Amino acid sequence: MIKISDKVFHLSTETTSYLFCVNEHNHLEHLYYGEHLDVLDNIDAYLERYAFELGSATSYRADTRGYMLNHVKLEASTYGKGDYRLPMLHIEGKDGIRTTDFTYKSHHIITNYTVKNMPLSRKEETLKVILYDDILDLELALYYSVFTRENIITRHAEIRNCSSDDVVLDRASSINLDLLYNKQVLTKLDGAWIREKHKNTYQLTKGTLVIDSKKGVSSADHNPAFMLQDDVGITGMILMYSGNFEATFEVTPHDLLRVTLGINHFDFRYTLSKDSTFITPEVILSYSVKDETHLANQFHQFINAYVIPKQHQKARPIIINNWEATYFDFNEKKLIAIAKKAKKLGMELLCLDDGWFGHRDDDTSSLGDWQTHPKKLKKGLGKLITKINAIGLEFGLWIEPEMISINSELYIAHPEWAIQLPDTVPSIGRNQLVLDLAQQAVQDFIIETVSELLKTYNITYIKWDHNRNLTDSYTPGDNPYAHHYLYTMGLYRIIETLTTRHQDVLFESCASGGNRADLGMMYYMPQTWTSDNTDPDERLLIQEGASLFYPLSNMSNHVASEVSHQMFRKTPLETRFNVAAFGVLGYELDVTKLTPFDEKVIAKQILFYKTYRTLFQYGYFQIIPHPKYHVWAVYNDTFDQAIVMVYQHHMTPNPRIERIKIPLLTKGSYTVETREQFFNIRAFGSLVNEALPISLKVHSWLYNTIANRYLFKANTFNVTRQSTTLKHHGLILPHEFTSTGYNDQVMPLPDYNSQLFILKKIKEIDND
Ligand code: DGJ
Repeated sequence: MIKISDKVFHLSTETTSYLFCVNEHNHLEHLYYGEHLDVLDNIDAYLERYAFELGSATSYRADTRGYMLNHVKLEASTYGKGDYRLPMLHIEGKDGIRTTDFTYKSHHIITNYTVKNMPLSRKEETLKVILYDDILDLELALYYSVFTRENIITRHAEIRNCSSDDVVLDRASSINLDLLYNKQVLTKLDGAWIREKHKNTYQLTKGTLVIDSKKGVSSADHNPAFMLQDDVGITGMILMYSGNFEATFEVTPHDLLRVTLGINHFDFRYTLSKDSTFITPEVILSYSVKDETHLANQFHQFINAYVIPKQHQKARPIIINNWEATYFDFNEKKLIAIAKKAKKLGMELLCLDDGWFGHRDDDTSSLGDWQTHPKKLKKGLGKLITKINAIGLEFGLWIEPEMISINSELYIAHPEWAIQLPDTVPSIGRNQLVLDLAQQAVQDFIIETVSELLKTYNITYIKWDHNRNLTDSYTPGDNPYAHHYLYTMGLYRIIETLTTRHQDVLFESCASGGNRADLGMMYYMPQTWTSDNTDPDERLLIQEGASLFYPLSNMSNHVASEVSHQMFRKTPLETRFNVAAFGVLGYELDVTKLTPFDEKVIAKQILFYKTYRTLFQYGYFQIIPHPKYHVWAVYNDTFDQAIVMVYQHHMTPNPRIERIKIPLLTKGSYTVETREQFFNIRAFGSLVNEALPISLKVHSWLYNTIANRYLFKANTFNVTRQSTTLKHHGLILPHEFTSTGYNDQVMPLPDYNSQLFILKKIKEIDND
């Protein structure tokens, strides 16, 4: 709800309040962001004012001594009038003047605000506050929208050049949030290829900390999202942008904390001509007095409802992807065999990955030549799709439309479409160059090429890849110093056009895994290929990090082969499934080479996933701290059903009995049972003879034959417990295997093994 009285603006959600005002000097002053204020005090209760000028400090004007902008919490900040913190905006006008001073002009409420070719959450009501700078003749509009139930506030800014000269935007962040410094701990996601989104915390102290990307994409180095926790609550922000971003955190000598978030000002100089407007990307803000889990799920609920396209807010298919199964080495026969087996096991969509086009037999050629590979698919893509559909699977296609191989027909025809400097050998990544999406001709080429594929063939899913960072940044045209920004805006025009034309096609965004896993992409592409790392042990940290901001419905996770292609680590099939199930499940291994054991187990996994698909894709996710295990829980929206995963990294010899606390269930009695899981008897080595009634020689023909077929049932567990017990005392787990004996009371949980527990509330019987 947006309440305005006496130039005090109160944005209130169910549990939060955001308060600012037009102050006595006509600046927009931030007053408060935190737990909901039921009754508003007089404005003086929130204002901090010094009685005198502080030593060398500067006052705003001679008649405002003691009003020093460096000590005021602002909604929008600039440089040059005594605020020495990093500003939200830094603009250069005529004669090199770089001082601006925006003061309040007007405000009004607008409805259903959208901007073409730009991701913005779907909103009904928006507060627009207009400020004006008399020095350079600029208008600044600040936009605020409120999502009451989800406790979300969104913000962005627009700068309009009202002067008769060009101005240059040196810095145009989306948001300025000035808070009181309270020893906030910053939670951020850092990483690299195959180890994306690792959660790190950092204690803010005096000075400035910057997290950013200069790679042309939001990148795996840092994600454009963070949380700030103090002893009162926790504030989070996500930027809806896919290019170079920058988040700054500055603590002043007088204990104010300024946060800015937006487009990276590094390598960005945008010329704003007269009468034109620059629109900054949107920032999603949320606050919780509870904890990280609560804040994360506020973001999830908001993204699922107001960011993800409406038509994709539903169950997502179980995919079989051929990449780790075949890499570039496939043909129609092989794909049909994979499809038949995948269908038999219960999978729903085959995604044909890299290598189906041009003459691409490895990664050195053909990007840009999006016609079927004549040798691999001799009868054409259409024939293949017809056969896949006849088997009963939907068809999906991998494509990397933003790239160009030097060894391609497209490059021969249009070398000027690749990003490269005149007379300079370009830097290279994965043997490819990047197309200059800042050029309209390139945008049109991509739009028409992908559209043609989608019109010609029955394709219901696209995996949109992007496998290298940008270099040699340059584009011919009016704004060569804002190339990274223009690239991203070109990308948005392309994907907005495509997803509008082909609304039922499900797009999954990928950038060597999670190198561009941001809300800008999610607005168009509801799923993200979380990481190229399919090892479940590594995936724990990656998926946990992603879950701090992005919903499970966005996380695409695949069960890959026993030995990880990224880690060389061997993990059990059941664990690969258990971890991948928390999100959108897929498989990425050669299903034609499975043993009967694997086939039977996978078929059971898929049946189980289908039963609980909504819970896994749209549930309320919680990471439950535990001294020994990784414990995850996902709850339904009424919290009377949950699935809990207990994951063992490394066994402790002779361990104690463990308990798992499950805190969010509603009051009542619950059944707790294990998912039926199976061991391959190879897991037991020579101990197999202790567990089986017959004697087997390890590695003998009989041993191998049994191992490939026999489903050794893991310990099962079925109890009834009160939610209060589960919450406060915890669920007592069975005795872990300790080498002194084995029977059905023992729960073997060797390294990298895991177990799922299903909790269901028992309906109370009405005696009347
Ligand atoms: C990188 C992706 O992340 C992989 O899943 C795969 O699609 C390859 N690219 C194909 O080149």
